[in-house]
Amino acid sequence: MTKSTITIDTHIEPAAAADSIKLEVVRALTSTPKALTPKWLYDDRGSELFDEITRLKEYYPTEAERSILDEHAEAIAEISGADTVVELGSGTSDKTRTLLDAFWKQGQLQSFVPFDVSEATLIDAADMLAARYEGLDVHAVVGDFNHHLPTLPTLGRRMVAFLGSTIGNFHVEERRAFLGALADTLRPDEWLLLGTDLVKDVGRIVSAYNDDSGITEAFTLNVLDVLNREFDGNLPVDQFDFVPLWDPTEERMDLRLRAAMPFVARFEALDLDVNFGEGEELRVEVSTKFRPDRIRAELLDAGFEVEQLWTAPGPSAGDPDDFGLILARRI
Ligand code: AVJ
Repeated sequence: MTKSTITIDTHIEPAAAADSIKLEVVRALTSTPKALTPKWLYDDRGSELFDEITRLKEYYPTEAERSILDEHAEAIAEISGADTVVELGSGTSDKTRTLLDAFWKQGQLQSFVPFDVSEATLIDAADMLAARYEGLDVHAVVGDFNHHLPTLPTLGRRMVAFLGSTIGNFHVEERRAFLGALADTLRPDEWLLLGTDLVKDVGRIVSAYNDDSGITEAFTLNVLDVLNREFDGNLPVDQFDFVPLWDPTEERMDLRLRAAMPFVARFEALDLDVNFGEGEELRVEVSTKFRPDRIRAELLDAGFEVEQLWTAPGPSAGDPDDFGLILARRI
């Protein structure tokens, strides 16, 4: 038996040491309105809380996507013919396994490239997968997919999986830039496998982000602890309220934290004082819901043709589909 191999490329420095990251955070905290990028949500504690979210009765996307993958993983392997699976934001290891099992069974899997901001997550995943698939070449990349897509290893024939509707976190312009950068790194006839949460009954969407047990609130508030720890800050965590809003124009959830009273927070590592006015909000994340025709058009604009769109049905007959999994070819 051939032994599996593991390589790790690192493109991210510790947050407090990296000038570019400091600049990004200073800008986020001093712009109007204040808005962070969602990657700050996913420290170890945040990743744990997100894992809990995926098991909430209100949070439908994880199950919906998993049911599509269970049903169609073999078709994905067959249609794509890919020998290298790249997974962006690869925290989600059991979905990965479903996918890789299908490629492995057909004897076509040579390399797996997990790409994530968290080195610890990657090492765990790499060890597990290298042991599961004898002879697999695991080439992990520690990076931020807003910056480091051009560093993806150019192995074999690739399929880039971007699951969980993480693409919903991007703003419209960021989404265009991301899809463009991805199209630039892929060669014709390579693939994108994209999970997209779909527009549906607003009540159901809002409860998925405002669960009764308060896990999503804790997940969102955790970002304040992350900032305090990473940048030696003193944000008063108990002075913030969780504000989950549905934005009907952009068709997205907009998760914010609102300062209950005015204060000045100090970040030693940034040499920065940040003023919060009473009621001032800090946007932590958006989660866009998609319409199939529109995402098709955006993909085509970027250079991807949708080959298949598999859906999970809504809760009752006549409801719109819950979730879409798209297999698109680089043209
Ligand atoms: C991991 C980005 C897909 O937008 O649904 C869940 C994150 N935030 N609950 C989402 C999230 C609050 C999640 N994504």
